[in-house]
Amino acid sequence: MAPSGRTLRLAPSLLSADFSNLGEAIRRAEAAGAGALHLDVMDGHFVPNISFGPGLVASVRARTRLPLDVHLMIERPAKFAEAFARAGGDTLVFHLEAQDDAAEVVRTVKALGVGVGAALRPATPFARVEPFLDRLDQVLVMSVQPGFSGQKFMPEVLPKVREARQRLGSIGSAADVSIDGGITLDTIGPAAREGATFFVCGNSVFVGGEIETNLAALRRAVDEGARLAVR
Ligand code: DX5
Ligand code: ZN
Repeated sequence: MAPSGRTLRLAPSLLSADFSNLGEAIRRAEAAGAGALHLDVMDGHFVPNISFGPGLVASVRARTRLPLDVHLMIERPAKFAEAFARAGGDTLVFHLEAQDDAAEVVRTVKALGVGVGAALRPATPFARVEPFLDRLDQVLVMSVQPGFSGQKFMPEVLPKVREARQRLGSIGSAADVSIDGGITLDTIGPAAREGATFFVCGNSVFVGGEIETNLAALRRAVDEGARLAVR
């Protein structure tokens, strides 16, 4: 819990884990205090990469009690929402830039009884999410171009994190502000300072070093950032 009373969660992104040994990665991340798992679904159309679909989400579901945060980097999110909800996703996060009508996607996901989040590419202004802000469980601010793990954090998105936090606060929403892309020991603190509450960490958890050590260091850095948080 941050001094501001907000719960801060670290969400390891399985995209950076060894796919041949996912069960072990999940077990270790859960034991080491992860607050959720982040699953990056890519369709080769919305982003220039392909990852996995509902089948893998279901396999992960069977291995953990952690909330599953499903990041849909796909066209036609409304069409696929049911499959990911059935697979065990707890929150479905779709992109505002996808072709579907965003308000319709929000309705569709909520009707499935799972959480709904809206993601913004780095260049997408916060204003795009305003029309249905009160219905969201999460606003995801991308801090890299979606499509690949291991990219460099874009600090120019930090004002958008602050804007999201302030606007959600002003309507009394407890929705998470998530930050995704290039989150490391150096960037997690600044994101917390601006009001992010949910931190997607790919390479910084699974590449180089031990999952347990990496998560512990990220936890210290995020708590320190939150201590300095803008209220
Ligand atoms: C990128 C994905 C991210 C990615 C993060 O499109 O949305 O979730 O896995 O990986 P890192 O933390 O390595 O940037
Ligand atoms: Zn992601």
